Order: sequence, then structure tokens, then C-alpha cells
Amino acid sequence: MTWDDLKAAADAVEDRHMLTLFEDETRADAFSVDALGMRFDYSKTNIDVAARTMLVEIAREARVEAKRDEMFSGAAINNTEGRAVLHTALRNLDGGPVTVDGVDVMPGVLAGLDQMQSFAEAVRSGSFTGQGGKITDVVNIGIGGSDLGPAMGTLALAPYHDGPRCHFVSNVDGAHIADTLHGLDPATTLVIVASKTFTTIETMTNARTAKAWMSETVSDPATQFAAVSTSLEKTGEFGIASDRVFGFEDWVGGRYSMWGPIGLALMIAVGGEAFRAFLRGAQAMDVHFKSASLEENMPVLLALVGIWHNQGCGYATRAVLPYDQRLSRLPAYLQQLEMESNGKRVAMDGSTLDVDSGPVVWGEPGTNGQHAFYQLIHQGTRVIPCEFMVAAEGHEPDLAHHHTLLIANCLAQSEALLRGRSLDEARKMMTDKGFTGDELERQARHRVFPGNRPSTTLVYRQLTPEVLGQIVALYEHRVFVEGVILGINSFDQWGVELGKELATSLGPVVTGEASAEGKDSSTRALVDYVLKHRG
Ligand code: F6P
Repeated sequence: MTWDDLKAAADAVEDRHMLTLFEDETRADAFSVDALGMRFDYSKTNIDVAARTMLVEIAREARVEAKRDEMFSGAAINNTEGRAVLHTALRNLDGGPVTVDGVDVMPGVLAGLDQMQSFAEAVRSGSFTGQGGKITDVVNIGIGGSDLGPAMGTLALAPYHDGPRCHFVSNVDGAHIADTLHGLDPATTLVIVASKTFTTIETMTNARTAKAWMSETVSDPATQFAAVSTSLEKTGEFGIASDRVFGFEDWVGGRYSMWGPIGLALMIAVGGEAFRAFLRGAQAMDVHFKSASLEENMPVLLALVGIWHNQGCGYATRAVLPYDQRLSRLPAYLQQLEMESNGKRVAMDGSTLDVDSGPVVWGEPGTNGQHAFYQLIHQGTRVIPCEFMVAAEGHEPDLAHHHTLLIANCLAQSEALLRGRSLDEARKMMTDKGFTGDELERQARHRVFPGNRPSTTLVYRQLTPEVLGQIVALYEHRVFVEGVILGINSFDQWGVELGKELATSLGPVVTGEASAEGKDSSTRALVDYVLKHRG
């Protein structure tokens, strides 16, 4: 099967209205997969039996199952960095052996989890204190995968949050740390410096600023710091005692790391048991991913819908639209997970891709987005596949009427995208309002919805720790499957390096200590402008 075959199949049904597919009463069930108490419905797409067969064939030809097994077995599938990819080991709570270079990594993983939990429980109970007593606030300093996962998860699990307040500082913009520390008591604050490499300039700059802030009132600030990193040497150089350093291995990628010590702030927020429930949810998705047939495999189908829309139909973006306010950081989390993983134009073997790389991922929670950008989704000239998600039940029994409205809105949007509103229907509507003649025609045209726009819907019972784990693991495996089909390495991120190098060389230029010579004229002029306008 070639990419041209896929594009031809998508072209062939481009003008078919999806509503015709629903003449088959069994379509909803036949194009949904139920697993782990969740339903993933992809019936509101233009994928029919033939297209699904073709997509599954594409997955089979790409050897998705064999590659999946290689990943779980600890093979060095990250072939530009020579590393295994084993974030799944972090949630392998049953502890069955997972070997890297012949060594079982599970005893270390489980011991690390216990160490993390005893520290988290000590902070929560007050047996670990700051100079001023029980810890009231935790500040996690990290960026990218060392921030988005725990920040997204802490917000998502707010109903389970019974530990100290948690704050997340990522941006090197001093405004972020200044606004976060403002009003906190250094004597009862714990700072977690989370950085896989412990070299990331944003994180280290913020960590030094936090240390200086704390040292103004706390006699030994390092005692109120913990670190999460793969580099014990560098955490030691920063002055953090080894019993408060939580290590992990280089076979855990940054954007896949919230399952281990990078999730420390989340664990302090919700407690060890809820954190383990989150891991169990992810592990259940791992088991499903490993054991379900391709046709019934939720991450595989989510990926195949992505491949159909992006590489088949040529839709360049997809919107993630959780009807779940507590998942408001999920789109940002998925932006890193998906775009840093699959935003690549070179295949594993060094050749240039002859198809588009992964899509632009964006989104906001519903219903807010409805009152902002859904106009374009419904009536713009571009087609944006939408990924809706919603819980059957909220956490606020007293506010069940809110949840009813939330669900109704979610379902209404996918129905509107599917159905649309024809010119005849719009004319009738405007005639009923008293319009006639040319003005009727003009007004009616503005009220037409083309419809036939694709969406998927993920429904889960309630956003519990288990379900959050299932959802995040579902998306991780989706990214993996799409990457395998594209033939790329989803686990490196060389595309972030050039900007970092140039920022390092521009630092002294922006302070006026070095010349901008050799830079392009735009950059030189911008530096000049900044230098003339800073105080
Ligand atoms: O620059 C990109 C990146 O390396 C991400 O992949 C990573 O999640 C982030 O920076 C933070 O890296 P670290 O955890 O090493 O500070």
C-alpha cells in the first residue's frame, strides 16, 4: 500500500456526505471501540469498511505490532540516540521483568516509586518540614515534559488534591517565577527542580532565582529543595542532598516522563495511592494496546483516524476539544507529545519523508472554544478534524445540571459538524423570520453550515486517576503508531536544538557585550531596537 493509494481512497470519498453512511443503522457500533470503560467513536468520519481495511493493512505493512513489541521489550528503538523507550516500565506495577541490555530494570523502577512515595507522604503528613513547619506550597520548576505532565495532571485530578498547594514555573520570563513566588512563604515552601538533563537554561535560571529568594529568609535553603533528574552529578553540584534526588533512566523520554519521579509534584498533590491508580490506568491501556487486535485496538484506531485525516485527506491540523474543564491543559500537553514526537521530515533511515509529517495539534476545553474559534471549524474554508472527549459523570453531584449541559453541548457540536445546515433549510429559517427576495438569499447563505466535517468522540465514565492514566497512555500509543507508520523516530527531538544554540550565542549580544556581526540584518536591527529601548 502506498501513500498515493491512501490519498486516492480519501479523494474518492471526499464528496460523499457522511450522513449517507448512517443509513446503515449499525454504523455507530461498528465504528466505535469499547475498552476499559471508555468508548472511542469514530463513526462521524468518512472512514468506511474499505478505508478501515486499507488503514489496518497500512498498519500491518508498517509492522506496528512487531515494533510495539520491540518497544515494550526494551530494544533500542530510539535509533538516533541509541536508547530504549521504556516509559511503559514506569507503570508496570505488576513488576514483570523488563530488560535493557540484559538487565531487569523493574527492581529499580519499583524501588524508585517507593522512594518517591515515602518522600511525598512525608511532605503531605508534615514529617518533612521546612524551616517554618509543615509544607504549605510546592513549586515545581521544569519545562516541556518536566512541567506539562505534572501540571496537566494536577489540574485534571483536582478533586483528589488533598496535599499542599502546587505551583508550576516553566517560562524563563522572570514574570512567571515572580508571579508564582509572590505571596508564598519561603519557610513553608518546597521547591522541586525537575529536569531530565539538569542543564535546561530556563529551569536552571528559575532554580537559581528560587534559591536566592529562599535564602533571603531560610538559613539553609537547599534543605527545602528536591530534584528530579537523570544526572545525580549535576543535582549534587546544585547543592541538593542525594536523599532528596529522584533519579530516572535515559530510556524515559521527557514528554513521556510523568509516570515516574517527574510526577512527584502530582504525587504530593494527590497522594501515593491515587498516583498508583493513575499508573494502573495507564498499565491497563498498555495491556489493551499489546493484546487487542488491530481492528479493535483503541490507540491503533485513534492513530489510523489521524493518518486518514492528515496523510490521506491532507487536513493539516487537528483540534483536541475536551469537554472537561480539568483537562484544560491536555491540549498543551498533547502538543508536546504529538508535535515533538512526530513533527519530523526525515525517516528512521535518513531519507526524506514523501508524505506530510504529524499534524498541528491545538485545542481548548469546551464549551469555551464554542464561543471563540468554533466559527472557523463550522464555516471556515478549511476542514479541521475534531477530537471531542467528555465524561459521563462529573465530580459535582450538586451541579449535575451543569454536566448535563456540558454533555449536550459536546454531542451537539459533533452532530452539527456531521449534519450541517443546507441552503434550503437556511432559506426556510429566514423566510419564517420574514425575509424575502435578494435579502432572504443573502442572509440565508450566511447561515449555511456545510457539515460533512469529521470528528471523533471519546467518552469515559468520570475523570478519575485511573481514567486519566488511560487517556494519556492512549494518546502516547497513538503517537507511537502514527510514528511507526510514517517511519520516523518518535522519541528524539533534534528540531529543538538550533534555537537553543542560537539563544546561547545571542545572550551576550542582547546585553551589548558581544557584537551582532555575522547575524542577518533583521536580527541585527531587532537587537539594535531592543538595546535602544531597554531601560
Ligand atoms: O528542548 C526540548 C526538551 O528537551 C523536551 O524534550 C524536554 O521535555 C524539555 O526540553 C525539558 O528538558 P529537561 O527535562 O532536560 O529540562
